[in-house]
Amino acid sequence: MRDVAIIGIGITKFGELWEKSLRDIAVEAILNCLDDAGTDRIDAMTIGCMSGGLFNGQEHLASMIPDYLGRRGLPATRVESACASGGLAVRTAFLEVASGMSDYVMAVGVEKMNDVDGGKATFALATAADGDYEAFNGINFPGLYALMAKAHMDKYGTTREMMAEVAVKNHRNGALNPNAQFPMEITRETVLNGAMVADPFRLFDCSPVTDGAAAVLLTTVEEAKKLGKHPLVVISGIGVATDTIALSQRKDILKLDVVALAAERAFKMAGKTIKDMDFAEVHDCFTIAEIMVIEALGIAEQGKGGQFTIDGKSALNGEFPINPSGGLKSKGHPVGATGVAQIFEAVLQLRGQAGKRQIKDAKTALTQNMGGSGGSCVIHILEAK
Ligand code: COA
Repeated sequence: MRDVAIIGIGITKFGELWEKSLRDIAVEAILNCLDDAGTDRIDAMTIGCMSGGLFNGQEHLASMIPDYLGRRGLPATRVESACASGGLAVRTAFLEVASGMSDYVMAVGVEKMNDVDGGKATFALATAADGDYEAFNGINFPGLYALMAKAHMDKYGTTREMMAEVAVKNHRNGALNPNAQFPMEITRETVLNGAMVADPFRLFDCSPVTDGAAAVLLTTVEEAKKLGKHPLVVISGIGVATDTIALSQRKDILKLDVVALAAERAFKMAGKTIKDMDFAEVHDCFTIAEIMVIEALGIAEQGKGGQFTIDGKSALNGEFPINPSGGLKSKGHPVGATGVAQIFEAVLQLRGQAGKRQIKDAKTALTQNMGGSGGSCVIHILEAK
């Protein structure tokens, strides 16, 4: 396999983008990425999108996006793994470069979720749950994660205050991110007193419904060195794993085995451990998700993720910063774009270009992108060389 580097990154503003279409935002992210890379070369494209059909009445993005970009004829592949579609698109692009099939591969993640009303958006998202055994019976994602949160509180003594601190910390980081959907600081009281969504979650425990796109351009390390525009960032490890979609079929609903398995694979490939990582962008679709993910990654002990957070250890200046971008909570969660946006942030940090939210001397990063309530997971390990 050839060594692979990320030479360009691009993103759109995240939020309610009424004046733009699905294709507009995908192409905007790609153009920003090419601008950043300092090249126009794209040999192939991979696209992550969860449900253009249900959100926008538009599938067949592997044809539409290259065409709208003005690159008719480009070999393009669309991949889907619910909210992990973006991470999977980057992995697919990596494989295409590493194998020698193509030299310059653009990975783009896109979702435009606000073109439908809240009920339809909730329905579209719930298609990533188990249709027969979960969604058919009326449960949706806030409900599924609420079940995990209640059980976590019951078994480990995790408190509402600990969960609220995930949101407070991520909004503090997101306030430093000009692309974030909700770039404002909030207090613990705001979270604790928010509108009830699914007990124990209130509004600020939930990631929002978001429009947005992100793109990264991959090539060989050899080519990246020739271009030399930015400090070199390589992908040294990737791990993908799947698990049962239905929570009822899990061995233990408080352990995200899918995350642990994907991490094991990514670390093996990179020859690293969690102790070698300087920070992580993780999938905080609900506050409990961040707590459970840092436990599955071994950043916090099992059952202690809430305490780790409330002690400030995952803050920007803490011992293991989590979600410097603001995470899904503050930055926003356009589901198919999220995995690519996490890599956008990781590269920015590793290049030392993250401005006020820069993590000092960051050299290694982990990104963790999850489908549904843990039915799939894609982890990338990135290193500044
Ligand atoms: N965090 C903070 N503020 C939010 C928010 C969020 N997650 N979602 C909406 N808001 C704000 C809106 O900006 C709006 O503010 P305004 O009154 O000042 O304009 C207000 O709350 C109401 O917005 P609205 O869009 O009517 O909210 P809603 O009740 O329809 O939706 C949720 C709120 C939490 C139900 C919705 O964001 C949601 O479903 N989130 C989860 C998405 C999800 O499941 N993703 C997949 C994860 S696996």
